[in-house]
Amino acid sequence: MAAHEFKHLFSPLKIGNIIVPNRIVLPAHWTCFFFQDEPPNERLTHYLAARAKGGAGLIITPQNTVWPSSTHYGYVGTHDDKAMPAYKMISQAVHEHGAKVIAQLTHFGPSTGFLKTGGAGLAPSSVGGSGGLLPHALGNAVPHEMDKNEIKEIVASYGVTAYRMRETGYDGVEISSTVGAGGLLVAFLNPLTNRRTDEYGGSLENRFRIHMEIIDSVRSAIGSDFVVGLRLIGDMLIDGGTTLDDTKVLAVMVEKRGQVDYLGVCAGFQGHIPPMHFPLGAFVYIAAGVKEVVDLPVVCHGRINDPVQAESILDNNQADLIGMARALICDPEWPIKAKEGRTEEIRKCIACIQECAGNFLKWQPISCTLNPQAGRENVITKIVPAADKKKIMVVGGGAAGLETARVAALRGHQVSLYEKEKELGGQCIIAAKVPKREDFAEVPRYYTYQMKHLGVEVHLETTITPEMVKEKNPDAVVVAVGSVPNMLPVPGSDRDNVVWVRDVLQGEATTGENVVVIAAEQHEQALGVAIFLADKGKKVELVTHCLYAGTELDTNTLPFMYGQLLSKGGVISPLTRVKSIEENAVVTAHAMTGVERRIEGVDTVVVAGIGRADESLYRTLKGEGKEIYAVGQCLAPRLLTDSIWDGYHVGCLL
Ligand SMILES: Cc1cc2nc3c(=O)[nH]c(=O)nc-3n(C[C@H](O)[C@H](O)[C@H](O)COP(=O)(O)O)c2cc1C
Ligand code: SF4
Repeated sequence: MAAHEFKHLFSPLKIGNIIVPNRIVLPAHWTCFFFQDEPPNERLTHYLAARAKGGAGLIITPQNTVWPSSTHYGYVGTHDDKAMPAYKMISQAVHEHGAKVIAQLTHFGPSTGFLKTGGAGLAPSSVGGSGGLLPHALGNAVPHEMDKNEIKEIVASYGVTAYRMRETGYDGVEISSTVGAGGLLVAFLNPLTNRRTDEYGGSLENRFRIHMEIIDSVRSAIGSDFVVGLRLIGDMLIDGGTTLDDTKVLAVMVEKRGQVDYLGVCAGFQGHIPPMHFPLGAFVYIAAGVKEVVDLPVVCHGRINDPVQAESILDNNQADLIGMARALICDPEWPIKAKEGRTEEIRKCIACIQECAGNFLKWQPISCTLNPQAGRENVITKIVPAADKKKIMVVGGGAAGLETARVAALRGHQVSLYEKEKELGGQCIIAAKVPKREDFAEVPRYYTYQMKHLGVEVHLETTITPEMVKEKNPDAVVVAVGSVPNMLPVPGSDRDNVVWVRDVLQGEATTGENVVVIAAEQHEQALGVAIFLADKGKKVELVTHCLYAGTELDTNTLPFMYGQLLSKGGVISPLTRVKSIEENAVVTAHAMTGVERRIEGVDTVVVAGIGRADESLYRTLKGEGKEIYAVGQCLAPRLLTDSIWDGYHVGCLL
């Protein structure tokens, strides 16, 4: 589809007193680019400017905390003069590319996070652990119950902060009532965390009262010619939380008040960042429901990653603006590629939640599994042409080899890539076999297109030997042949009834009816293969020596994988170490107490591990005096993100 065919997506929209050049919004998302006692920095500025340069029409900057009592991350908030130069720098950098910029105003309320900054969390009621809803440590502390004077102080602080943002050249502010970022306001709105009996508790209107007071406070501080938005969780998707029907009532109230210029609507309680388990556009119906009852522009969010999908949402009048956080983290040039009809060039977010929110939930700077440049825009500006154009041979068509080939070809090298299988993609093809993990297939799709587009010569079903390398005589060789099975060092692991995870997923190994999956890794392979087998009607027990399975997965994905396995009758046995494997039994020991247990009636044991580097080709060629690199799993078996990062890095070195 060419630009003119995305006629809604690239049409301007008036919001309050500004004209947004198109309908593409980068919604607020916390980056962890700066920490305790630090103001926003150049890293954030470059990151946001790259998305504006890529063509997003509206950039909403993350979490401008309104008052010192918002202690969650302990960084320098918008109330502090030290933050002002950075916000001026951001507004200038974004405006240079023709986009508009709005600041999301936040009070973290009950969330005090991991950092000790002094002071307790603030909340409508002294209810800890976000009402017991979050399966992780965030927000578990018991907050201080606010009295009416404390509420007044916070309401006023939003007005003060909005006024200060206006001074920085921003185009507007967004009052956030989303989880995390809008912790305090969500805590008021959520009946599970608001137990007040005064005018701020009880009915929906009462629980929303602080929002209305803040809206009034902001509007009276900044006047009529500055945009004010409100972001709400359209449906908390939890028993007892607010629903779409509630949000419709609130949206009508807000519109009647006449102080707000747009509404942003997302969904879900835990971070409203839907994992791969949700279909594309999973929450569009919520924005559409709100749009039915108001005339205010509505921004929709949640798993929108494709221009045709975005255009049809607008065409169907389900929303006025398309919010895409991860799609633009993954490919900042998504808008410009869509506008120029280069849709196949877009690197689509697969909702893996690994390097973006996965990092941020671990208090680490965000990036993207598929885009190593994301979050490093301050140090990596662009891929530079190579001074010496070389003949490069890449051996292996998994993610590491493909990324090497892509970057090397972009730099002007002549690249040939050899893959022993029938198709490109390596382990991503295997990962996509697990039910609800099919989005991993985007990785081979993207790279297959890139190879063609960049003129990389691809040879499938070709196994490369050291002799063939000698014969082809390239200037440099990059070995990306992956890893081989790495069975457990326990007695019985060499039995015929013990099989390797990837062989099962590829259909190269069959299993009996009763299967034990041994988690020799703590990411998604053990859970994935257990789900795959349970889905086929097998009786599966997953054993892990850790406290729970998938400890390295993010807390958004994990509950869905657990749900998939348990709903199919699968059993997860934590703190269970494997001692030996017998013909029809697995002997385990409790990881803490050492107490033994025999799992009887086992037909097949699946070892789910990350493998061992397949180093032989690399080691053989290394002595030959050629420029040679190993990337990805054959350097050391790690995650997809590491493979892509290796490929990117070596592609830049060649
Ligand atoms: C790393 C990360 C941080 C986020 N932080 C915020 C935040 O500070 N405020 C907020 O309202 N939403 C935040 N979100 C939610 C996004 O704005 C968005 O609603 C969500 O990611 C779903 O949209 P997507 O599928 O386009 O990513 C965050 C999302 C991500 C991925
Ligand atoms: S890390 Fe995964 S979910 Fe996050 S932006 Fe990248 S592809 Fe999307």
